Amino acid sequence: MKRTKIEQLMAFEVPAERILVKGWVRTKRDSKTFSFLEINDGSCLANLQVVADEKLPNYEEIRKLTTGASVAVEGAVVPSQGSGQQWELQAAVVTLVGAAPESFPLQKKRHSDEFLRGIAHLRARTNKYSAAFRIRSELALAVHRFFHERGFRYIHTPILTASDCEGAGELFRVTTLPPGERLLENDFFGVESNLTVSGQLEAEMLATALGDVYTFGPTFRAENSNTRRHAAEFWMIEPEMAFCDLQEDMDLAEEMIKYLANHVIDHCADDLNLFARFVDKNLMAQLGVLTGSAFERIPYAEAIRILEKSGASFEYPVAYGTDMQSEHERFLTEHHFKKPVMVYDFPKTIKPFYMRMNDDGQTVASMDVLVAGIGEIIGGSQREERYDMLATRMDQMGLSKEKYWWYLESRLYGSVPHSGFGLGFERLVMMVTGISNIRDVIPFPRTPKNIEF
Ligand code: 4AD
Ligand code: MG
Repeated sequence: MKRTKIEQLMAFEVPAERILVKGWVRTKRDSKTFSFLEINDGSCLANLQVVADEKLPNYEEIRKLTTGASVAVEGAVVPSQGSGQQWELQAAVVTLVGAAPESFPLQKKRHSDEFLRGIAHLRARTNKYSAAFRIRSELALAVHRFFHERGFRYIHTPILTASDCEGAGELFRVTTLPPGERLLENDFFGVESNLTVSGQLEAEMLATALGDVYTFGPTFRAENSNTRRHAAEFWMIEPEMAFCDLQEDMDLAEEMIKYLANHVIDHCADDLNLFARFVDKNLMAQLGVLTGSAFERIPYAEAIRILEKSGASFEYPVAYGTDMQSEHERFLTEHHFKKPVMVYDFPKTIKPFYMRMNDDGQTVASMDVLVAGIGEIIGGSQREERYDMLATRMDQMGLSKEKYWWYLESRLYGSVPHSGFGLGFERLVMMVTGISNIRDVIPFPRTPKNIEF
């Protein structure tokens, strides 16, 4: 018999004679002559109420079922007598698939996020985490849909690389040398290699061949920052567009954030409702602002003036020429503008080598998108397409023109203005769920001193 998912069952309009459902017991209540099992199969938030009558041949076994056990239930879907659910399953056959002892850690009560991080192998069995990971899945699909509808090609950029796109030196080294051996020429690639921090440099090469492209894959940064919004392994979505300037880049970023938020509102109503009720009371209002208002766009210099004049007390001082901290970003978007903000034209001194120099010679055609609760969710720029300018920037910033010869050379053959950005996928999941810690939107997060699961 073909298995029915609880999610499909919820959409039934008429009772069904016979279906098969497989899932895990969330709770059990016993009366004199029958037991109610609440089972969940992970397909949606809703549990299915199973009524198991004492006439079942293995009723003794069913009465001993505990939270966490897995079962297969065959039976008829009938209108429920009780409130809280439209249908219930009148069991004809209940098969115990795998028992769970009383010590199963996820008993029916609320557990703290900290506790659940310590049992990452089990936490997806809770309502909150299963909802988060379903939304994560739905968002990944929406990303591909967004680009597909706009004619972008999905490309795969390397994970093993010898370059440091962002130039921040936060690299995870990759080596096959035995401990103690230092001769690079004996190493697998024969040169210093690392996990990628961004697929951008390679994406640029494909954009100047295929037109509009995007990558969507894992990236790695050995930033030793234990914050709520940094992970050592995270996924990034990086579109790259040929014949595109910073304005069009910002347009795409805004359109994309709105599209993705709307997609979740339209496709994940039940899961979203859980977050709006239990995680962030402001969530639906925030999503309304996100989808309903034009993002503010201001140059970096103006952002700094606003922060300086704000009278707010920040932990980190505000000064032209320094990078904005998360508290500054959040002040701008949460308190000052009360909507998403795009800050553009940052000083060249705080940005990577590849960004296009503006005519003032001091700022680059860069942009960050800031949203409530998170701060920076997107970082992007127009790329320096002029060979001489790029070579000069590489010299000034101490990058090896020999090592990045291919990147530089691309500017000699039909170079075109092009732009792109990186959207942090985990920060996106945080944005649409209201979850405030990046460790809780990744099934198995990697942060400093944390790689257990
Ligand atoms: O601003 P970033 O460093 O930009 C780049 O990597 C560019 N090469 C992107 C491009 O233009 N193609 O990173 C982009 C985004 C950030 O805005 C943030 O959302 C996310 O990636 N991000 C992180 N997310 C989680 N943990 C970290 N350690 C992150 N570092 C960046
Ligand atoms: Mg950035």
